[in-house]
Amino acid sequence: MQLARFEASQAAEVQLLFARTFSDAEGPAEGELVGGLVRKLVTDTDPRDFLGFVAMEQGRVVAGIFFSRLTFDTPAEAFLLSPVAVQSDNQGQGVGQRLIRYGLERLKERGVTRVFTCGDPAFYSRVGFTPVSEETAPPPFRLSQPEGWLGQMLDGHEMTALSGVPRCVTAFDDPADW
Ligand SMILES: CC(C)(COP(=O)(O)OP(=O)(O)OC[C@H]1O[C@@H](n2cnc3c(N)ncnc32)[C@H](O)[C@@H]1OP(=O)(O)O)[C@@H](O)C(=O)NCCC(=O)NCCS
Repeated sequence: MQLARFEASQAAEVQLLFARTFSDAEGPAEGELVGGLVRKLVTDTDPRDFLGFVAMEQGRVVAGIFFSRLTFDTPAEAFLLSPVAVQSDNQGQGVGQRLIRYGLERLKERGVTRVFTCGDPAFYSRVGFTPVSEETAPPPFRLSQPEGWLGQMLDGHEMTALSGVPRCVTAFDDPADW
């Protein structure tokens, strides 16, 4: 399996991968929603504000992950991890954790210091995330599951508080997605 930067030429394949994977996991409506979100993310986002990575097997994309910028009042190189998907047949083999670690390493190389995500703490704690309070790092919108707001520092420093409600990229600019 090869891990690599997401290329714009893979947009349709990756969108389909996310739509299928989330449809299998959470039903067709979620599949459509996440597929649409990925399309917006790769077409509407300034290339400086997002990074994607893929896992390839025999020339096909089997997993993908995206990170997009969060802009706080406090100067900080902060990104949001969302979404991530491993094709249903390839799940449970460590691909997800490998791809997340790979993405975090690439972000670190680019000087990103903080990464946040919303998700299951039991899974994301395996790749370095810990719960973050909304006082330390306010999310862009009210969270439906505040216990799933997670973060990690990539530069080895302690997480310090950030001020102001951050701006996310337009693909995530819908309070219903939070
Ligand atoms: C979540 C996902 C990316 C994990 O990738 P993966 O390659 O299957 O995971 P790994 O093989 O690296 O890790 C497997 C472990 O994570 C756990 N895990 C997998 N998906 C999980 C989830 N959604 N919630 C909690 N734990 C999960 C498994 O139970 C397994 O634990 P075990 O080793 O104790 O059995 C993948 O299962 C997936 O695409 N799921 C559907 C879409 C989704 O839920 N994406 C995440 C939200 S954006």
